[in-house]
Amino acid sequence: MKLSRVAGALGAEVTDFDVSAALAKGEGQCIRDLLNEYEVLFFRSQQLKPSEQRDVAALFGPLQTHPAYGTVDNIPEVMLLESTPENPSKIEVWHSDMTFRQHPPSVTVLKGVTIPKVGGDTLFASMTAAYEGLSEGMKRYLEPLVAVHDFSQGFKESLAEPGGRERLADALANNPPVRHNVIQTHPETGKKVIFVNALFTSHIEGVSALESTEILSFLYKHAVLPEYTCRFNWAVDSLVLWDNRSTQHKPVNDFLPAHRALHRVVSEGDRPY
Ligand code: SIN
Repeated sequence: MKLSRVAGALGAEVTDFDVSAALAKGEGQCIRDLLNEYEVLFFRSQQLKPSEQRDVAALFGPLQTHPAYGTVDNIPEVMLLESTPENPSKIEVWHSDMTFRQHPPSVTVLKGVTIPKVGGDTLFASMTAAYEGLSEGMKRYLEPLVAVHDFSQGFKESLAEPGGRERLADALANNPPVRHNVIQTHPETGKKVIFVNALFTSHIEGVSALESTEILSFLYKHAVLPEYTCRFNWAVDSLVLWDNRSTQHKPVNDFLPAHRALHRVVSEGDRPY
């Protein structure tokens, strides 16, 4: 295996490594250790079938399904993230996946399936580095705060479509708003991270609406300063694994109206953090 760091804060490209074979040989802990160190890992030319991608994600914990996305090959855990000319991507903002859940995913495994000729990169940001970049006073202020994360905020465009509320009625009913500490401690590294995101966080509890809006706005800007980020340019069969507890990501929608499709599997951590 060869490893090269892609940016100062996070991200490593791993070459000469067959993810599926490594898992079959029981070398999963090595990937877990690398994720703890680099937070996002980039692999090329990993010809995994959807069921094999599911098995990669299962290494990190029980798998979660998604209440709104379509799935692949009748495998409920393999989600299809697809942007077509008729139905372009609605994911526009920085986020961690599915923080509207009480136990959001610990690790996301995303594979490139249909990749536009130009554009469609994914940006990543380290919430560990972003936390470390806060002033001591701001860290103390944020420490006791709790934020609400809401499925209906993240999927507001889909809900507003004709028939959207009916289509997503079960998803809404099964995913009421949840509360997460604004600052979390990563259960494996023990490092603190910022845990609010512009897609799903609706507000901070116990402060005025103005204070909540302004603090969240500051955190969203601070968390994605260029020095906390890296960028990945996809190819078919690229495989990216990220720690969803210590990073945020954002697809760059500069490829529209081209077709872009990825398969995603997420695993849940075995304990809250
Ligand atoms: C995601 O938000 O999980 C997918 C990111 C992407 O499409 O690049």
